[in-house]
Amino acid sequence: MDYPIKTVCVVGLGYIGLPTAATLASRGIEVLGVDINPRVVEAVNAGQTYFSEPDLDMLLRAATTLRKLRATAQPEPADAFVIAVPTPFREDRSPNLDFIDLAADAIAPVLVSGNVVILESTSPVGTTERLADRLARLRPDLRFPPTRHAEPLDVHVAHCPERVLPGRMVRELIENDRIIGGLTEACAEHAEAVYRVFLQGKVFRTDAATAELVKLVENASRDVNIAFANELSLICDQLGLNVWHVIELANRHPRVSILQPGPGVGGHCIAVDPWFIVSSAPERTRLIRTAREVNDGKPKFVVSQIRERAERFKRPVVACLGLTYKPDVDDTRESPAIAIASQLACAGQDRILVADPNLTGLPEELAAMPNVSFCETLEAVRQADIVALLVAHSPFRKIPREELMRRVVIDATGLTHQHA
Ligand SMILES: NC(=O)c1ccc[n+]([C@@H]2O[C@H](COP(=O)([O-])OP(=O)(O)OC[C@H]3O[C@@H](n4cnc5c(N)ncnc54)[C@H](O)[C@@H]3O)[C@@H](O)[C@H]2O)c1
Repeated sequence: MDYPIKTVCVVGLGYIGLPTAATLASRGIEVLGVDINPRVVEAVNAGQTYFSEPDLDMLLRAATTLRKLRATAQPEPADAFVIAVPTPFREDRSPNLDFIDLAADAIAPVLVSGNVVILESTSPVGTTERLADRLARLRPDLRFPPTRHAEPLDVHVAHCPERVLPGRMVRELIENDRIIGGLTEACAEHAEAVYRVFLQGKVFRTDAATAELVKLVENASRDVNIAFANELSLICDQLGLNVWHVIELANRHPRVSILQPGPGVGGHCIAVDPWFIVSSAPERTRLIRTAREVNDGKPKFVVSQIRERAERFKRPVVACLGLTYKPDVDDTRESPAIAIASQLACAGQDRILVADPNLTGLPEELAAMPNVSFCETLEAVRQADIVALLVAHSPFRKIPREELMRRVVIDATGLTHQHA
């Protein structure tokens, strides 16, 4: 069946929503981007990205110049609505769905019969149904899924999780396969029409709850596997062995593929999403919960390694290299490197020099700390007694080896091992 899509309203113009909006616009769709942050709205209307992502700048500039994309604070009528707002967790690690609720409240007044609403935000199982229920309560004049009303529906609702990799988003948005989970089969079909506008990857249709869990499982799987590598790093430290070498040799086995350890796990997804599974089935998620705890414990371990070495110096200067949550991006959300730098700074006596070629200054969490300053990489290394490699940014590979050899190096990334 053909469901023509001419206008799309994308709610939430962040790392996911903005590339999606610009991509849809690049295919001739009239796109309205909605964001509650006025600075985001202003930047998008000026054709400027406010985070770095290869090729997004060009795509956005073209979309705004051709007037295919404009941004505003309030939704307007459209054929399709794509919701890409944050889904963080609360202090007790239960999911916080407030942003989705607010997005639903904002789009409800402008919905009309024939619309499709797609939830792209990573969500606990049952959230798409909860979204449809909320919309149905706000708009009793329209028929929503799932089964309360016999088909045909006025508004179709589906979940289509996003699995793009920051740094490759523009490409992966088009090329990755998509899972589309409808609250009914017709909902999945209607949602697919939106992705058909730009998608080259395959579409796999399923129900909404399965699609929700698939996304969470993808990230929990990464988390559990990283936790195994991180646990190995603790074991090797105790046994005085080189974890990178151990993993390298173990991976020579044809059916073993161990991931690399690191300073912890950060970012908006892997460090968050497994908790959504834990909150849905607390009694049955021992492994997933433990993996989270292992990964969350890693920054503290790196801090203890640094502090142990710092004891040798009277007034130690520590260079923390890298602050983002992973290499070669400027995203610092849930970054273990920031946790490490701030724990070191809170401990008081150290002078902390922070360098990150992808950032222009200290993030909020560190800016107010008197013993932390931001500087250029080589300058930080040259002033330091201890160099802590916290993110394997490509430019760090160019640090002259002799500069590192003169200092105590704590390498949480394996960069010096690959470099050797
Ligand atoms: N960033 C990733 O790599 C990634 C990958 C896969 C899935 N996800 C998921 O996608 C969703 C969005 O993530 P993101 O990284 O784009 O978040 P983000 O924080 O970069 O952007 C979200 C945007 O939504 C806006 N917003 C919040 N509430 C709003 C509302 N009610 N109406 C309009 N705008 C609103 C914010 O101002 C912000 O600009 C999350 O559920 C996340 O887990 C993210």
